[in-house]
Amino acid sequence: MNRPVMGGVAALNAPPYIKQQKLINWVAEIATLTKPDRIYWCDGSQEEYDRLCADMVASGTMKKLNEAKRPNSYLACSDPTDVARVEDRTYICSTEKDDAGPTNNWMAPAEMRSTLSGLFDGCMRGRTMYVVPFSMGPLGSPIAHIGVELSDSPYVAVNMRIMTRMGKAVYDVLGTDGEFVPCVHTVGAPLEAGQADVAWPCNATKYIVHYPETREIWSYGSGYGGNALLGKKCFALRIASNMGRDQGWLAEHMLILGVESPEGKKHYVAAAFPSACGKTNFSMMIPPVAFTGWKVTTIGDDIAWIKPGADGRLYAINPEAGYFGVAPGTNRSTNSNCMDCLVSDTIFTNVGLTDDGDVWWEGMTKEAPAHLIDWQGKDWTPAIAKETGRKAAHPNARFTVAATQNPVLDSAWDDPAGVPISAFIFGGRRSTTVPLVTEARNWTEGVYMAATMGSETTAAAAGQMGVVRRDPFAMLPFMGYNMSDYFQHWLNMGEKIAASAATQPKIYCVNWFRTDANGKFVWPGFGDNMRVLKWMLDRLEGDAGGTEHAFGVTPGFSDLSWDGLEFTEQMFDQITSIDKDAWSDEIKLHTELFDKLSQRLPQALHDMKAALEQRLAQ
Ligand code: GTP
Ligand code: SPV
Ligand code: MN
Repeated sequence: MNRPVMGGVAALNAPPYIKQQKLINWVAEIATLTKPDRIYWCDGSQEEYDRLCADMVASGTMKKLNEAKRPNSYLACSDPTDVARVEDRTYICSTEKDDAGPTNNWMAPAEMRSTLSGLFDGCMRGRTMYVVPFSMGPLGSPIAHIGVELSDSPYVAVNMRIMTRMGKAVYDVLGTDGEFVPCVHTVGAPLEAGQADVAWPCNATKYIVHYPETREIWSYGSGYGGNALLGKKCFALRIASNMGRDQGWLAEHMLILGVESPEGKKHYVAAAFPSACGKTNFSMMIPPVAFTGWKVTTIGDDIAWIKPGADGRLYAINPEAGYFGVAPGTNRSTNSNCMDCLVSDTIFTNVGLTDDGDVWWEGMTKEAPAHLIDWQGKDWTPAIAKETGRKAAHPNARFTVAATQNPVLDSAWDDPAGVPISAFIFGGRRSTTVPLVTEARNWTEGVYMAATMGSETTAAAAGQMGVVRRDPFAMLPFMGYNMSDYFQHWLNMGEKIAASAATQPKIYCVNWFRTDANGKFVWPGFGDNMRVLKWMLDRLEGDAGGTEHAFGVTPGFSDLSWDGLEFTEQMFDQITSIDKDAWSDEIKLHTELFDKLSQRLPQALHDMKAALEQRLAQ
């Protein structure tokens, strides 16, 4: 390998098509700090992608899957300690602690910078630093924003090519003085001369750091998902939420879907469910067979940027270009569209490898393969699984695939103008208490519902699973500033729409996850969620029934369409009943959250809670 070295710093060799000196200087500055052996400027081409993947196959980071079964697809298996987002290592380093707020980890910027400069000093030794230019949102669109990630992980570079618009065209948009969000990422595993590399380098110490005021991201020690693909949660949610607050728009952990009736009436809705709570599935849902003529199409599956249009309505875009989705549980009957996405050109991470060179995960087929190699490289059989409880795939195993492989991709998915939002849906994973669906009677009540939403924790984040925690707007791990200020921002957005000619989107709260005495989900979910979505659309058009109660409006059994499903009124009661004692406990958890957020909590939400308590007491 040609290694022109000048004073110990890898030669920059910036390509001539990069016209921005500030960007080149920044790359030089980070290279001086991190001391990579080489700098590689990604151009985003297919040839480059194939080459980097081939390099990773050679180095043992990835395996190429059977070309006949899963063309142009790969499996990467991570270090067993690096499998999910690390929320307790994620920091919002605003100048003032109160601007990060009580739900975020905070450290003074100067202190964090000094900690990180120690850690980043020489952190890329022996490795290549990849320069990854990317656009969140359509290239060159007025609503898109540009980032450049410097990473010593080729796995990150190839994943970023799928997840974002990545490549040299970004530099044309940047020109001589365009703005970009600088993102610095290292796995934190420098190599000494002659030291052999491992398949998945990472560091036991991890820092995922955001400086909201200077719009910078620094990530240390992990190569996995949202910790490392910095365009996603770090930029498109934590940094973008700050941009949105300052500029009057919203950056949300939401899917966006289009739904068209047999009569050709089309609405777009955006839905926020916490991590691993059903966004990808809902966004590409296949309506039940009995719903002849209904069509659901995908704009995005994880993140929405939502801006008011000239007509006062809210318009949403998906800033991403691919899906980094949960593999376990995905199959032909629950999400056939997703299975169609994954037939080729996919990177799988932490799933099982079958004996014929394909992939498998829990829930993919009814019958498990007789033998495979699990995500930790060990022999796995159904018998071993039964005996040891070991999984073929890690519960947070994921696929990375381009949106363009989605058979139900909405024709407007790439439209820089975005799509008008008719309704917002918020939903947690709750085995008890929260009914199937509730409509808020007004914007403030909807904001209250979203703000107080609880959900059981999942494998998407490191830590205990299945614990109910408050996850306001499904944004708890992704808020880039003070949560109370964010609530106020939502209230302000509502007022702005009210003051315009437009109607405010309706707001709904859903829960697909109530269980019976045996712990089984009562609601069939997936495609059958269409029944709930149809009720919402009917409500928008003003022709569906519902009953008002203490915290909103809920459909009765006869208000939903049951064509093609055996679902009894008694089962419906199981998932819609409102238990007074459970709700009295639930309100205590709202109080706990509001106490925590009290310093800046909007009065309107205090008032909403007081009124709710009064109604529940009646
Ligand atoms: P992130 O990518 O982590 O933000 O997750 P997500 O919200 O996109 O979740 P996803 O759609 O990937 O679903 C996560 C898990 O929940 C998968 O195992 C799904 O099979 C399961 N799931 C999704 N929708 C439903 C549903 O309606 N009912 C039930 N019971 N499970 C569901
Ligand atoms: C989530 O955890 O909400 C995800 C996966 O969408 S990650 O990109 O790892 O954050
Ligand atoms: Mn997500």
